Amino acid sequence: MNLLPGWVAGLGYLVAAVCFIVAIKGLASPRTARRGNLIGALGAALAVAVVLLSTDFLTTNLVIVLVTIVIGAALAVPVARRVPITDMPQLVALFNGIGGGAAALVGIVELSQHEVLGIEGDAMAPVAMATGIGIGSLTLVGSIVTFLKLQGWMTSRPVVLPGAPVLFGASVLVTVAAAVAVAVTENIWWGVLTLVAAGAFGVLLVLPVGGADVPIVISLLNATTGLAVIATGWAVDNVLLLVAGTLIGAAGTILTLAMARGMGRSVAGILFGALRGGSTAGSTEASDRPVRTATADDVAVTLAYARRIVVVPGYGLAVAQAQHTIAELVDALRERGVDVVYGIHPVAGRMPGHMNVLLAEANVDYDLLVEAGDVNPTMPATDVVIVVGANDVVNPAARTEPAAPIYGMPIIDADAAGQVFFLKRSMRPGFAGIENELLFSEKTQVLFGDAKDSLAAVLAGLTSA
Ligand code: TAP
Repeated sequence: MNLLPGWVAGLGYLVAAVCFIVAIKGLASPRTARRGNLIGALGAALAVAVVLLSTDFLTTNLVIVLVTIVIGAALAVPVARRVPITDMPQLVALFNGIGGGAAALVGIVELSQHEVLGIEGDAMAPVAMATGIGIGSLTLVGSIVTFLKLQGWMTSRPVVLPGAPVLFGASVLVTVAAAVAVAVTENIWWGVLTLVAAGAFGVLLVLPVGGADVPIVISLLNATTGLAVIATGWAVDNVLLLVAGTLIGAAGTILTLAMARGMGRSVAGILFGALRGGSTAGSTEASDRPVRTATADDVAVTLAYARRIVVVPGYGLAVAQAQHTIAELVDALRERGVDVVYGIHPVAGRMPGHMNVLLAEANVDYDLLVEAGDVNPTMPATDVVIVVGANDVVNPAARTEPAAPIYGMPIIDADAAGQVFFLKRSMRPGFAGIENELLFSEKTQVLFGDAKDSLAAVLAGLTSA
């Protein structure tokens, strides 16, 4: 029994679709991201309610619906509350994978009950089912491999199996052929073959990608989730799924391209670099070249007498969970009348917006976050740059070393400032695995130690300066 008349359900879908669009718009800025997220969640809740009330699903399957909601919430709520910020990419990967897996399952169920659901007559429905099964399975299995890599449950280095290009080509061919067979025959067993072959395609696509490039693949798999959702919407004749899938697909594609551009790399290079013989993971060896070191008090005194300071945060800030301490230090400096801003590189950290999310957690004023393009012209007039747990995003090799993996990546021009302090634990390189000449420059000093401890010591030194 349907509890909602058709026009009310249509209106509900429209409102949910508008919520999704407003949510995406909100996510474009740290200032509005929280609200955007909430509006998106409300849209999703409304969509679920409309589906349940406008079909006979609730009345015929009440127990299953309730049990599913309870199990889902019992798993998702504690995970979402407890996940550390550095593990966020894996969580996104899992959510993506679940979306793709759901699309694949719907495709399989539709295929097995085609007549029951009464959509025969739509000649394109089998094509949509085949697409949903293939892309959904690719997304699910690929996302599981990205999760395992980032969680450290398997090696994060590129894995190139013997004969990898041939295996990869074969998995693509079998997936496409089985999907075509699904569309033509509507036979469930071709659907199962599509599911398995696309899963193998997903494994072979992600295995050769090095750990630190994995966030880009997660974003790409986000885009493919969108495609799978579109296919499902088509197969079950649901306009809202078409809208949501289109938004997810478009947002994921734009994000993937933006991340690749921010790293100065091509998406194909990231995906297939290791297959072509290159490596997407750099060295982790520490350099033994001497550097000039500083104590926390040296740094504190220099900061206390500076007029303008730029803080460049990076991945190490997240590892050290030093966002609150850096915010306290910046506040203390600003109270002393020093002009301090944060220079935010688009791919600092390991996921899009990593630094924005981290600093928002410490209630840093958004106006103090200045993007690389805007902060760079101010560098010659900047007295001190403090590089906190960052490395590649200030490495001049991006401008000068054509052979460097980061060559062409726009960087924050810390080397143009008067003086540079690096806060890091050792002489190990950043993600790109290459030496950073700025560490050995005359204007640079390194304060060794965990970023949180170092910043706390500098703050203490500043208070007594
Ligand atoms: P990295 O170049 O990776 O440098 C991080 C630095 O943090 C390292 O030098 C490390 O040195 C230091 N560090 C780690 N833990 C620390 C701690 N507890 N305390 C103090 N320092 C610590 O980071 P970045 O400059 O943010 O650059 C990001 C890199 O990731 C870029 O190459 C980018 O292309 C890549 N990437 C980014 C993304 C996105 S979307 N953000 C996605 C994929 C890849 P020690 O080990 O010596 O301490």
